[in-house]
Amino acid sequence: MARKIVVTGGKGGVGKTTVCANLGIALARRAHRVLLMDLDIGLNNLDVVMQVEDKVVFDLVDVIENRCRPSQAFIADESQPTLYVMPSCHLAKRQISAEQIKRVLSRLEDNFDYVLIDCPAGIDSGFRRAVACADEAIVVVTPHLSSVRDADKTLAELTGNTPVSIVVNRVRGDLVASGEMLSAFEVFSLLGRNALGVLPENDDVNCNVRKDKAAPFDLLASNLDDGKCEIFDCVAPYKGVFGKLRRKLKRNA
Ligand SMILES: Nc1ncnc2c1ncn2[C@@H]1O[C@H](COP(=O)(O)OP(=O)(O)OP(=O)(O)O)[C@@H](O)[C@H]1O
Ligand SMILES: [Mg+2]
Repeated sequence: MARKIVVTGGKGGVGKTTVCANLGIALARRAHRVLLMDLDIGLNNLDVVMQVEDKVVFDLVDVIENRCRPSQAFIADESQPTLYVMPSCHLAKRQISAEQIKRVLSRLEDNFDYVLIDCPAGIDSGFRRAVACADEAIVVVTPHLSSVRDADKTLAELTGNTPVSIVVNRVRGDLVASGEMLSAFEVFSLLGRNALGVLPENDDVNCNVRKDKAAPFDLLASNLDDGKCEIFDCVAPYKGVFGKLRRKLKRNA
């Protein structure tokens, strides 16, 4: 049975889809069978981030409305043979319920080790539907007070026994070192939940981070897999004399 994990975060644009896509790639690189499921129905973009938007023929809504079988809606990733995307491009004629999605998942999940669910922003019906389909949650937050506040509200909604862990995204080591940005550890302690990982602000993260830029996501995948908590250190390069120089160069860039 697959681990079904919703990637949520309250605030829009904090990096939920980016984390979902790249964590999926990193888990598939560890030879896991991974399904990425877009439950941001209507504002979906997981297919775009995964660069499979040209291959979409059927999607989750087609499966639910019986226009195709689940396997016809999967799109295989070109570089990772065990990674699949289930897009959700169409707007449904009727409201899609969590029960309908769970029925689809129950037909699929034996074929996967992980199902990562991309959640819409906010804490209303789309959020509740996505959360209801998962057994675990990853809350993505950026080191800004407004994002931390939204993440806190999201955590309050994730009641019950759902295991939750936190990913702090878009950390700028230079700003943390100069005291201008909250550190990931401050964010973890403000939210008071398990840390899963830290991701640096990265100019290349626009699409899926593959090859050399993947280290922080690989660490995230290994933490998720092995229940560890090794944190990617974004600040170390900006400490000491050379670090001060790097900070200065970055500021003037
Ligand atoms: N670590 C990062 N460094 C740089 N840019 C990032 C990082 N993480 C995400 N981004 C960028 O931020 C933007 C928003 O990311 P993304 O779409 O993943 O957020 P989201 O939480 O899924 O948004 P929405 O709430 O609209 O679904 C994208 O342009 C993405 O490339
Ligand atoms: Mg998104």
